[in-house]
Amino acid sequence: MTALGPGRDCPLCPRLVGFRDKQRAAHPDWHNAPVPSFGTDDARLLIVGLAPGLQGANKTGRPFTGDWAGDLLYETLIDFGFATGVYDERPDDGLTLVDARITNAVRCVPPENKPTTEEIATCRPFLSATVAAMPRLQAIVALGRIGHDSVVRALGERPSRVGFGHGATHRIGQLTLFDSYHCSRYNTNTGVLTTAMFRAVFQAVRGHLDAA
Ligand code: URA
Repeated sequence: MTALGPGRDCPLCPRLVGFRDKQRAAHPDWHNAPVPSFGTDDARLLIVGLAPGLQGANKTGRPFTGDWAGDLLYETLIDFGFATGVYDERPDDGLTLVDARITNAVRCVPPENKPTTEEIATCRPFLSATVAAMPRLQAIVALGRIGHDSVVRALGERPSRVGFGHGATHRIGQLTLFDSYHCSRYNTNTGVLTTAMFRAVFQAVRGHLDAA
């Protein structure tokens, strides 16, 4: 375990450890460990997801890689200049983030994609440390309410004072927090989140950083 991230065998969440052990037995060739942040810590933008998907980030070891949600996320990042290369659902696809970093509120895959409140709180010090280690950080995109709430708490604010809303922006200290509905399969299939809505968030982030 380091200050910035949990070690491969992080013991902090018993339920997630049990789930991880099962996945290791069933799929010894998968990553099956806390998924580290992707991108360098000198980025001005941090994107915060929820948690690795079982057969996506948990398998590949890179946030959103191989997950349904990664298709829209990486396509959008490429379009707005926050990534270069080709996203091919593999950690060795050569995709490079540009001035951006991606992390998750919870680093380990939770059963049914649902971390408990306690697991989110237990993993939060790693999110706080990730934020603290980014000296040029100016903007955070929170994907979904859980990511939003965890970021707000990590920044020392209360979600009751800084509420989640798709397309909302919040100034917290020196940082601007941009909220988006999570780009999950459920949200995109049901039309809760359209491609245009998602792109509008990153358009706003691009404008914000270009004006800085
Ligand atoms: N994969 C991730 O890494 N994070 C999410 O929030 C969803 C899928």
